[in-house]
Amino acid sequence: MSKKLFIETLGCQMNTRDTEHIIAELNAHSDYIQTTNSSEADLIIINTCSVREKPVAKLFSELGQFNKTKKDGAKIGVCGCTASHLGDEIFKRAPYVDFVVGARNVSKISQAVEKKGTVEIDINNDETDYEFSEYRSSNFKANINISLGCDKQCTFCIVPSTRGDEISIPAEIILNEAKKSALSGAKEIFLLGQNVNNYGKHFSNKESEKYTFTKLLQEISKIDGIDRIRFTSPHPLHMDDEFIEEFASNPKICKLIHIPLQSGSTAILKDMKRGYTKEWFLNRCERIKAKVPNVRISTDIIVAFPDESEEDFLDTLNVVEKVKFDQIFNFKYSPRPNTPAATMEQIDSEIGTKRLQTLIDLHKTHQDEHMEKNIGKIHSVYFEDLKPNGEIMGFSDNGLQVFVKGSEELLGKIVDVKITQNSRTSLKGIVVE
Ligand code: SAH
Ligand code: F3S
Repeated sequence: MSKKLFIETLGCQMNTRDTEHIIAELNAHSDYIQTTNSSEADLIIINTCSVREKPVAKLFSELGQFNKTKKDGAKIGVCGCTASHLGDEIFKRAPYVDFVVGARNVSKISQAVEKKGTVEIDINNDETDYEFSEYRSSNFKANINISLGCDKQCTFCIVPSTRGDEISIPAEIILNEAKKSALSGAKEIFLLGQNVNNYGKHFSNKESEKYTFTKLLQEISKIDGIDRIRFTSPHPLHMDDEFIEEFASNPKICKLIHIPLQSGSTAILKDMKRGYTKEWFLNRCERIKAKVPNVRISTDIIVAFPDESEEDFLDTLNVVEKVKFDQIFNFKYSPRPNTPAATMEQIDSEIGTKRLQTLIDLHKTHQDEHMEKNIGKIHSVYFEDLKPNGEIMGFSDNGLQVFVKGSEELLGKIVDVKITQNSRTSLKGIVVE
């Protein structure tokens, strides 16, 4: 008889893909049906994030709740970055947890479920040529990892210590996965890595020839059936002209790009060890905008990094004013254990909250400005979700969420839509024949 699996995913897209791998590996050894109700599950897994403090605190309150309401004999597992980071300390704080599997040990999940007390958190574990079993949460798009870990040492970031050093997955494995996904009907590929445009610098096999991200994009676009390629996240430092040229000229590459700014102040960027200046960042955005008129740019910004002065913050606002990002993921700096920034001079929390609000308010005016401009425009939309109210939802090439009235015939199709209405975050329109 099949067992029931409840799995919750916190954090980034890499975690989303890790969750797919966890489900695939579990099903390769046993028969699981997913449930959204933890109290009826035989196995409860939280795939955690440790990038900021809040999700870590939330983890332990949630674990307590799951333990209280779980059915008799159900197992609880903690996976992901907090698993890597806290290891067996998780058992001390939550003794009822059955196993702990870190972000770089996903291939070991099936054995861990079988053995109470398992802790698999080796951040040097190399899964770059491990062939995971198949599972995808969407029929329309396929997430594909292109590298593990991160070699940057941004002073605020815990990721290098939870996901380990950066190693690229061999191109043949990525291309095979992309071909298989295309054959099963996915028109869109989402390439994932902490630092995608550093792809090809380090492979596990030291003999492997160097390979570039641009070349990988070119090879993937040759695959029949793949119409759209997305990726996250490129690092501004490695955004060279060759890459920008490919981004601009390759029609299969979607024209939404995430360029994580973090701060607009060159002094703070230096303290963060980001490796670029305010001017370099602006120059890259200007170049992309000049070459790709319909491009949309998203970013990550941290406010109240240690020592951030009012002037530094004004520099961030200045970059936001100049680039007018389409989407900003804003964060208040959160000190993380064993990172250099945690020992620097911290900023008063209230100042951080105020800066965050100022940034959000400014960004809203840009969002409204951008979204209104879509009225009357035609976007090519890939439809992926039928809503109960008779609407069908999809995304434009440049990442806008679009709703139209329509039936399931549109699912999995890329269709032209004329935009008739906008809100701050999505659009409505009609299909044009
Ligand atoms: N290289 C990854 C970054 C992963 S962390 C990527 O580009 O997706 C995702 C984001 O979380 C970072 O870009 C940063 O803006 C934010 N972040 C990381 N550490 C943080 C911290 N200590 N406090 C607040 N935000 C943080
Ligand atoms: Fe973190 Fe910087 Fe890498 S934000 S994931 S150390 S690029």
